[in-house]
Amino acid sequence: MKEIQIKSFAEYKKAYQASVEDPETFWENIADKFQWQKKWNKTLEWDFTKPDVKWFQGGKLNITENCLDRHLEKLGNKTAIIWEPNDPDEESRYITYRQLFVKVSHFANVLKNNGIKKGDKVCLYMPMIPELAIAMLACARIGAVHSIVFAGFSSTAIASRINDSDCKMLITANQVYRGSKPVNLKEICDEALRSTPSIETVIVYRRTVEHTPMLEGRDKFWFEELEKVERDCPAETMDAEDMLFILYTSGSTGKPKGMVHTTGGYMVGTTYTFANVFQYNHGTSKENDVYWCTADIGWITGHSYIIYGPLAAGATTVMFEGVPSYPDYGRFWEIIDKLKVTHFYTAPTAIRALAKQPIQFVEKSDLSSLKVLGSVGEPINEEAWHWYNDMIGKGNCPIVDTWWQTETGAIMISPLAGITPTRPAFATLPLPGVQPALIDEEGVEMENIHEKAEGRLAIKFPWPSMARTIYGDHQRYKEVYFSAYPNMYFTGDGAYRDATGNYRITGRVDDVVIVSGHNLGTAPIENAINEHPKVAESAVVGFPHDIKGNALYAYVILYNDVEPSEVLKDEIKAEVSKIIGPIAKPDKIQFVSSLPKTRSGKIMRRILRKIASNDTSNLGDTSTLLNPEIIDEIIDRSLV
Ligand code: WT7
Repeated sequence: MKEIQIKSFAEYKKAYQASVEDPETFWENIADKFQWQKKWNKTLEWDFTKPDVKWFQGGKLNITENCLDRHLEKLGNKTAIIWEPNDPDEESRYITYRQLFVKVSHFANVLKNNGIKKGDKVCLYMPMIPELAIAMLACARIGAVHSIVFAGFSSTAIASRINDSDCKMLITANQVYRGSKPVNLKEICDEALRSTPSIETVIVYRRTVEHTPMLEGRDKFWFEELEKVERDCPAETMDAEDMLFILYTSGSTGKPKGMVHTTGGYMVGTTYTFANVFQYNHGTSKENDVYWCTADIGWITGHSYIIYGPLAAGATTVMFEGVPSYPDYGRFWEIIDKLKVTHFYTAPTAIRALAKQPIQFVEKSDLSSLKVLGSVGEPINEEAWHWYNDMIGKGNCPIVDTWWQTETGAIMISPLAGITPTRPAFATLPLPGVQPALIDEEGVEMENIHEKAEGRLAIKFPWPSMARTIYGDHQRYKEVYFSAYPNMYFTGDGAYRDATGNYRITGRVDDVVIVSGHNLGTAPIENAINEHPKVAESAVVGFPHDIKGNALYAYVILYNDVEPSEVLKDEIKAEVSKIIGPIAKPDKIQFVSSLPKTRSGKIMRRILRKIASNDTSNLGDTSTLLNPEIIDEIIDRSLV
C-alpha cells in the first residue's frame, strides 16, 4: 500500500496537520485506497457523551476481500504467511496469498455447513498455527464474529468469555507443544464446555497425533469437515459498522471487558498504521520485506499486526508457534537469521528476559537482514532500549516504540520507522489522525505542546479503529472511558511530554501509591530501579506504613551473574533517589528470581501487594498466571 505511505518527516508533519484540520477528508483519502463493494455516504458521526462513534456509514465491504481477493492478481504467488513451528526440526510452512484465499474460502464453508451465519459468535481457542489465521478470516468472510481466547487461559476463563457473548461454535486444536511442554487444549475446552450451553459445535484441528476424546454429534474434526464442502465462498456483504470481532481485555474490576471492533474503521486504521509505522516495503519478489510480530494472535497485537494490518497491506507476515527460550534463548535470533526477517516487533518484557542471557545467544545468528525494530505492550526502559538498539539493531535499525491499547485497535503514538527522530524510551509523536491530550490534576488540558508537561493521557477526537462498545455493557464502556474527562476518551495511562511534543508513556495511573501524601506512580519508580546496570527487572507496590500511610516495597530481579547484597540495595535506593527523588526510595527491597506474570506479560501487582502487606491468607485467583510457582518462593523470602 505504497499510496498511503508517508515518506519523510516533512510529509508526516503535513499529514498530521491535515488530519487535525479536516479529519474527515484526511481519512476519506485513505479509505478510498481500499476495496469497497459500495462507497460510504457519511464519513464520521460522533458523540463522546453517549458515547457513539460511526465511521464510513453506508459503506459496504468485506475485510477478507481486502486481505485476500484484492491481492490475487499482483501478489497471488507472494508468501502471505510464513509459519515457524515450536520444534525447530519440524518444517516451516509457506502459504501464498492464493493458497490462503483458497483455504479461507474452503473453511468458511465448513462454518456455514455447521449452521454459522452472519452475526453469530464463534470462539477460537487455538495455538499459533496457520489454521488460527484461516479460522479467523473464514469468520470474517461470512460475517461471523470471532472471539479469540488466548490459548493459555484456563477453562474458567474460556467459559466466562463464551457465555458473555453466547458463542455458538468453538474452534480448537487437540494439543500443542509450547517449548517441551504439551498443552492439551481440547481437554481444557472440554472442561469449559460443561458450562457453555450456547455452544452447538466444536471443530477440532489435529495438531499432534495424540488421541483426542470427541463427543459424538458435537465435536468434529477440521479435516473431515473440509471434505464435505465446496472450496468457493463469496464474501458476505458487511456494513462498515458491522461487528468484526470481540476481544476480551482485563478490567480493573473482576469481569473482563469484551471490546467490540467493527469492520471498516478497523481495517483502515490497522492498515494505515502498519504501512506507516513499520515502513514495510514490497520491493521485488526476492528482496521482499519479511515482517515478524512475536505476539500471540490471542491479543490485540496479533489481531491487528500479525493478521489484519499486514495482510491488508499485502505483506509477508511470520507466525511463530513456540517460545523465545526453546530449545534455548537463541531461538528468536535464529528465526530472524533463517527467515531473513526485516521487521521485528516484540515486547519489552521479552527484550529484558533475552538481554539477561549470555550474549553468545545473539552472536550465533546473523541479524543483518533486520531493518526495523518494534516494541509494544509496556514502557520500554532506557537500558532495554539501548540493548535492543545496540545488540539487535547494531545501531542501524530505527526502534518504533508503539503505544496503543486493545481499545484503540491500532497504534496511536509511535515513531514512523526511519522518519521520526527517535528518543530512547519515548513513543514520540501521535500518528496522523490521533489527537492526544495531557490532563493535569485539576482535570484541565495542558495544551501548550512547546512546554514540558506530565499528566494523564486522553484522546480528544475519534479515530477509525477505536472500539465501539463493551459487548453487552455499553454503560460500562461509557463509565470506564468517557466519564473521567468530558468529551474525551480516557486511556488510563500517565504520560510525559517534552518540549518538542514527544510523548513518553509512564504507565497505568491506576497503580498509584500515596506515600506521605505524595502521589507516586509505581511505573516511574520501576523504570528508575531498572536503570541500575545490575537490575534486569523490577516491580514496586505499596504497603501500609504507620507514619507514611503507605511505603514502597520493591521486588527486584538481578542479572544472572550478580550476587545480591546490602550494598546493592543501597545503590538501587540511591539510583531512585537520583532519578525521581528521595521520596520515591523504596523502604524494602527483595531480590527475586522472577515476578508473577499474567500470560500477556503483565506483572500481577495485586499479589505482590498482598505479600508486601503480609496478607497471604487469600491471594485470590492465580489461575491466569504464567508462573504460579514463583509465589511460594517470594513469600518464603519476603521481608515482612
Ligand atoms: C496498555 C494496553 C496494545 C498492545 C498490547 C497491549 C501499555 C502498550 C505501550 C508502550 C508504554 C504501553 C499501556 C496501555 N502499553 N504499549 N509502547 N509504551 N506502555 O494492549 O493489553 O490493551 O494494554 O499497555 O499501559 O494502556 P493492552
